[in-house]
Amino acid sequence: MINGSKRIARPLRWAMVGGGQNSQIGYIHRSAALRDQSFALVAGAFDIDPQRGRDFGVQLGVDPERCYPDYRRLFEAEAHRPDGIEAVSVATPNGTHFEITRAALLAGLHVVCEKPLCFTVAEAEALRELATRHQRVVGVTYGYAGHPLIEQAREMIAQGDLGEIRMVHMQFAHGFHSQAADSQSASAQWRVDPKVAGPSYVLGDVGTHPLYLSHVMLPDLKIERLLCTRQSFVKSRAPLEDNAYTLMQYAGGAMGTVWSSAVNAGSMHGQLIRVIGSRASLQWWDERPNQLSFEVQGQPAQVLERGMGYLHANALLDDRIGAGHPEGLFEAWSNLYYRFALAMDAANRGEPAPMRYPDIEAGVEGVRWVERCVQSADDGGVWVDY
Ligand SMILES: NC(=O)c1ccc[n+]([C@@H]2O[C@H](COP(=O)([O-])OP(=O)(O)OC[C@H]3O[C@@H](n4cnc5c(N)ncnc54)[C@H](O)[C@@H]3O)[C@@H](O)[C@H]2O)c1
Repeated sequence: MINGSKRIARPLRWAMVGGGQNSQIGYIHRSAALRDQSFALVAGAFDIDPQRGRDFGVQLGVDPERCYPDYRRLFEAEAHRPDGIEAVSVATPNGTHFEITRAALLAGLHVVCEKPLCFTVAEAEALRELATRHQRVVGVTYGYAGHPLIEQAREMIAQGDLGEIRMVHMQFAHGFHSQAADSQSASAQWRVDPKVAGPSYVLGDVGTHPLYLSHVMLPDLKIERLLCTRQSFVKSRAPLEDNAYTLMQYAGGAMGTVWSSAVNAGSMHGQLIRVIGSRASLQWWDERPNQLSFEVQGQPAQVLERGMGYLHANALLDDRIGAGHPEGLFEAWSNLYYRFALAMDAANRGEPAPMRYPDIEAGVEGVRWVERCVQSADDGGVWVDY
C-alpha cells in the first residue's frame, strides 16, 4: 500500500513543458507527480503564450525566474544551475513531442512524455536510442495502466485462470465529437489537424490506451499482422479518422480487435478490455475501475474488488485507501508517476527500474501500431505485417 512511505531520498527537481492553465491534461500531471512528494515542481515553460505561461507558473508557486518562455530556454538555463531540473514532463500537442523529448534527452533529463510519443516508428526508435545512450528514463502516460486491477488481470492470466487465450476485445469509443460542432474547442481542433495531431486522430488519441493495457495484461502476446479500416464520419476531419476498427492476429493464433471512436454518440468513455480464454474471461471497464469481472464458463460471474485481500500481492502494492472507498484516474496517474520517480532515481544510480512502468518501449509500440493501422486502412483495409 502507498501510505506516505518514501522510497526515494528526496523529490526529483521537475519541470513541465505545456500543461498550461486551460489545458485538458496539465492538472492531472501535477496532481499525480506532486501527490507522493516524488517530484518538486521548480520550473516550466507552461504555455505556448510566454506571458500566460509565466503568470500561470507564478500562480503554481514557481519562482518567476524559472518560468521560461519556451522549452529551449528552459533546458539551457536550468543546465547552468546547481539546482537545475532533473526531469521534465511534456504535455503539449502531439506535433511537438518528438522535438521536445529529443532536446530533453540531449540535455540529460529524464522525461515523462504524453502519448503518442511521436509520429513515426523511425522517430520513436531514434528517441529510444537516445534514451538508452544517455541512460535516461522515458515514461509515457498511458494513465489507465496505473489502476491496480490491471495488475490483478496480468497475474490471473499468467497463472492460467482463463485457460488458453483466444480473443482480446478492446475499445475506447466515446461520443464527444459526434458532430462537427462538438469539436470547436482549441483542444479538440488540433486533434483533427494532421500537422499537429499526426497521421491519425482516434487510433493514436484513444485506441493506444486499451492497446497498452493489453500489453500489460498479456506480455507474451505478440501481434503478427493487422487489418484496419478508418472513417471520417464528420467529413471535415478527413483525412483523419473519427472512427476505426482494427483486427489483429497474434502469434499462436489468438485474435484481437480494437474499436477506436469519438463518434459513439451517447457514450462517455467506453474504454473496455475483455480477455477471453478457453475456460473463462476477464473484463475491465474504465468507468468502473475498482471492479474486475471474472466469468468462468458455466459458473456465476464474480466481481473482484480493488483493495481486497484475495487479490494478488502486486494488485495491492499501489493501493492508496483500502477497499470500498473508490479510487479513480487521479490515483492511477499518481501510481504511474510514483513508478516513474523510482525508475529515474534508480537510473541515477545506474540501476534497473524496481517496478514496471509504461516506458519508451510502450511509446515505440503505440506509434508502431498507429503507423501500421494507418497503412492498412489507407491501402483499402488489407492485412499488413506488424
Ligand atoms: N494520457 C492521457 O490520458 C491524455 C489525455 C488527454 C490528452 N493527452 C495528451 O496530452 C497532450 C496535450 O493535450 P491537451 O488535451 O492537454 O492539449 P491542450 O490543447 O488542452 O493543451 C496544450 C497545452 O500546451 C501548451 N503548449 C502548446 N504548445 C506548446 C509549446 N511549444 N511549448 C509550451 N507549451 C505549449 C498550450 O498553451 C496548452 O497549455 C496531447 O499529446 C494529448 O494527446 C493525453
